[in-house]
Amino acid sequence: MPIFTPIFPFFAHSPEGFGQLHSSMFNEKPDFHKLLQPATELEARLLDTPEFQAGLNWGKPRFGHPEGLVGYHVRDVLDNVEACANDEDTRLRLRLIAIVHDAFKYKEFQLGRRVKHHGLLAREFMEAHISDPILLDIIELHDEAFYCWRAANLENQPDTAAKRLEKLLDTIGDNLPFYFDFYKCDTRTGDKIQAPLYWFEQIVRSR
Ligand SMILES: [Fe+2]
Ligand SMILES: [Fe+2]
Repeated sequence: MPIFTPIFPFFAHSPEGFGQLHSSMFNEKPDFHKLLQPATELEARLLDTPEFQAGLNWGKPRFGHPEGLVGYHVRDVLDNVEACANDEDTRLRLRLIAIVHDAFKYKEFQLGRRVKHHGLLAREFMEAHISDPILLDIIELHDEAFYCWRAANLENQPDTAAKRLEKLLDTIGDNLPFYFDFYKCDTRTGDKIQAPLYWFEQIVRSR
């Protein structure tokens, strides 16, 4: 039996993790240019907006996200993007989705009630900056595969899940492999459960 059980075992192996934990506990604001290393002028410009400064600084350590701040989660997603993108265009498109996708969580709930999903808020913000409909759809729907899995597997609502999945697949169309690439980069982070990823992978493979 161990004499000492770490309170945050998920940070124990990582010096960066200790730094993130320290920042989360003491409300230090990281330098997001240094942390995320913007690869384009647009990425750099977004990081300077008040919306992204607030959005990336939002979040406390919680289930699924022991790293706390959205900005730290984005760093983890970007690391996955760098490892999985096969070409520069794919890399830059996945990077942009990564930087934007959760940045509006801080606006999602007001007075304890969900106003709008953060994916839709992010899409609406990004419509002023990009016109690529595929990027906008994936930004908006990045959590939809998870919600389909949840309806089917946790909420015992197979009909709702099937309808929701059909709508997602219709919207994403031929860009399903690209959607899945981002979903993978986003899900293989923190201590998120991996069952939704395996479930969705079977759907992607079957098509
Ligand atoms: Fe999200
Ligand atoms: Fe995310």
